[in-house]
Amino acid sequence: MRLRNILLGAAMTAAMPSLAQDNVITVETAKPGAEVQSTMYGIFFEDINYAADGGLYAELVMNRSFEFPNRLVGWDISGNVTVREDGPFERNPHYLRLGPINHGHKHTMIENSGFFGMGIKKGAEYRFTVWARCPEGGNSKLWVDIVDNATMGEDQKIGNGGIDIKGKEWQKYTLIIRASKTVEKAHLRVWGDSRVTTDVEHVSLFPVDTYKGDENGMRKDLAQALFDMHPGVFRFPGGCIVEGTDLETRYQWKNTVGPVENRPLNENRWHYTFTQRYYPNYFQSYGLGFYEYFRLSEQIGAEPLPVLNVGMSCQYQNDIRNEKHVHVAIEDLKPYIDDCIDLIEFANGDPTKNEWAKLRADMGHPAPFNLKFIGVGNEQWDYDNNKAFSKRLEVFIEAIRKAHPEIKIIGTSGPNSEGRDFDLGWMAMKRLGADLVDEHFYRSIEWFKNEMNRYDEYDRTGPKVFAGEYACHDRGKKYNHAGASIYEAAFMTNLEKNADIVHMATYAPLFAHVEGWQWRPDAIWFDNLRSAKTVSYHVQALYAQNKGTNVLPVANSNHPRKGDDGVFTSAVVDKTTGEYIVKVINTTEEPKQVQIKFEGLKSIAQVRTITLDCSDYELENTVDNPTAITPIEGTTNAEGNTINATIPGKNFVIFKAKK
Ligand code: AHR
Repeated sequence: MRLRNILLGAAMTAAMPSLAQDNVITVETAKPGAEVQSTMYGIFFEDINYAADGGLYAELVMNRSFEFPNRLVGWDISGNVTVREDGPFERNPHYLRLGPINHGHKHTMIENSGFFGMGIKKGAEYRFTVWARCPEGGNSKLWVDIVDNATMGEDQKIGNGGIDIKGKEWQKYTLIIRASKTVEKAHLRVWGDSRVTTDVEHVSLFPVDTYKGDENGMRKDLAQALFDMHPGVFRFPGGCIVEGTDLETRYQWKNTVGPVENRPLNENRWHYTFTQRYYPNYFQSYGLGFYEYFRLSEQIGAEPLPVLNVGMSCQYQNDIRNEKHVHVAIEDLKPYIDDCIDLIEFANGDPTKNEWAKLRADMGHPAPFNLKFIGVGNEQWDYDNNKAFSKRLEVFIEAIRKAHPEIKIIGTSGPNSEGRDFDLGWMAMKRLGADLVDEHFYRSIEWFKNEMNRYDEYDRTGPKVFAGEYACHDRGKKYNHAGASIYEAAFMTNLEKNADIVHMATYAPLFAHVEGWQWRPDAIWFDNLRSAKTVSYHVQALYAQNKGTNVLPVANSNHPRKGDDGVFTSAVVDKTTGEYIVKVINTTEEPKQVQIKFEGLKSIAQVRTITLDCSDYELENTVDNPTAITPIEGTTNAEGNTINATIPGKNFVIFKAKK
């Protein structure tokens, strides 16, 4: 099957005017239409599937502050180890006391097994840090080993060093360790002094080589994958995590800023959500907090789009009819509204005038982050039209508009992609004057086939659309196979054609650890050492990298009827490069002859192509086989202003034409 398509793909390099065309695609080059927003294609980040701790956040130690409810989760101990709770960090008071054991052949030692082990690379450097003191005075020595427990060799150590701890005061100590071997599931050992009691807190190990070298940084390959996509917008921190399992466990951004040592632990809602994939050790250290998020947005060139809680707990998991108990009363919403206003100040405010802006400056970023958007509420709805959501959102909108009229506010139409609650949601968003509405659709291939014209009929006057979470979930095959991704590519032609009202779209979720996932498909899979960009990732990246600046009118002589497979297309011009970019997706099994006519041009000098071959239905990119399907670049010819090409079955081809 793959060979056949490669051969047919080769046919694209020659013009074939004599063949009968299945689809005549006419692109009106002289009529550039709606601007494609710079935010059009982006990323949705949520700490699900170990996306943050154990994933993008490069910390290798799990439970570094000993704050998990079981204080020693992640740690094996031997010898004289006690947990104490009067440590130097108010919001993380627990630490360990490593006492002498008074026997020459016994040892005090603590060993951390990381998140499914620690991925360590040969030759790379690792930064070990610890807060420590000798509570009874004197000096002590801690020995620090990175170990390969599973080795058959004489020595488990693959890197080590010693630190001298001096005196009774808590201090931060740092040690750089170079690894001699690549190990996927290494551990970290810290040996106590055999004579002097030593207290340790916030025991941490990071690769030195994080993304952009940040100390409290991101795992390089994963952050690089985000950058590579060229995302225009970066939604954070979710998703349902905004709501938590209950209000107590909702995401609270103020707990995620300031010194990492003092950011309180939060339960991760995905710890509980699915009993068939249960992760009792899933917590949020908040090491990847809002400062790191804004900074990463800046580093990867995406507009930040934070989503905050609207004073409601997750409506799936809490009975909304029981309003008084599970949601915040309107009159008590002030702290939640303050969270929004203060976040805008944290991002954009003047450090000499605002305490949150000052904190941003103190953390190392005096310049504003230029936040332009804020989402309020994740998947909320007005159950039975009781206005539970909209009456709360109304109060937020009023307050945010008053304090920050420059910020665009994003509401939601709830978790459903259509139906009564969805319609009520949209009506409410219109009434409240939200700038954008966040729509979600994790749906089947059949749904995608039926929705290929979804936005053509949308009201042009209302709020703009943010397709904030979506993915094609093939029935019985909920994994990242090519057979589903091709429908995402086809559907996105409709997003693009409707760029006047669709201003943002983010596939979801973003990351998944192969040993720690709760939800799939996802855009990027990883284990402790490797990562894989899925076919869905490539679809997103191809759109983001080829979004152009303005939509061009495009007509297809054989546009598929609702629910049918066929050839789907959209076109844009990039006014900065002078390229005309036409996306063509053939969702049928069969090759299709297409003729692309660039009306308004006399001739085309060069055509570059990018092809994503999704014809091997079950094929997926995995960490073992990360490049099974990747975009292939090529060229083809035009005759005058026309390209004749064969699009193999289940292929996504981008034509980039220049005069
Ligand atoms: O992306 C996974 C979850 O799907 C999100 O947290 C939620 O918003 C949606 O239901």
